[in-house]
Amino acid sequence: MSRNQAFGSAIHDREGLVRAIREQYVLHWDGIHGWDHWMRVLENGQRIASENGADLRVIELFALLHDSCRHNDGLDPHHGPRAADFALGLNGNFFTLEDKAAELLHLGIRDHTAGYVHEEPTICACWDADRLELPRVGIQTHPDYLGTDLAKRMLKERKL
Ligand SMILES: [Fe+2]
Repeated sequence: MSRNQAFGSAIHDREGLVRAIREQYVLHWDGIHGWDHWMRVLENGQRIASENGADLRVIELFALLHDSCRHNDGLDPHHGPRAADFALGLNGNFFTLEDKAAELLHLGIRDHTAGYVHEEPTICACWDADRLELPRVGIQTHPDYLGTDLAKRMLKERKL
């Protein structure tokens, strides 16, 4: 585990944050890209972080925000960039991340559907956490698109 791993939460007004997300969220809260999915991404991400040392503050915010600006539940290629900018605008209001972590959150959200694997552990954990959830929308997760060993093992476990 990384010596620099950031634990805990950067959120200081969770109720306000969830309200701000909900006020602009246009899809069903209980839909395939909604709350339950975000909570499973959080759980996956926390598990991956325990092994690869990812920043847990960024994982939590990624889980809550990465799909928050979708306009539909299908192909919506710009939902990542929209949500990344939305997230940055919330920094300092409902949560506080320093510049380096805010950059990770922005990149992680912006490119989470861009289809590549990143080497940075926090970005990797965020994307793997989300990609492990692909079978719920009928897409098999391919191990080549997972960047962490633990996510690859989790994928195998789920296929048993
Ligand atoms: Fe997602």
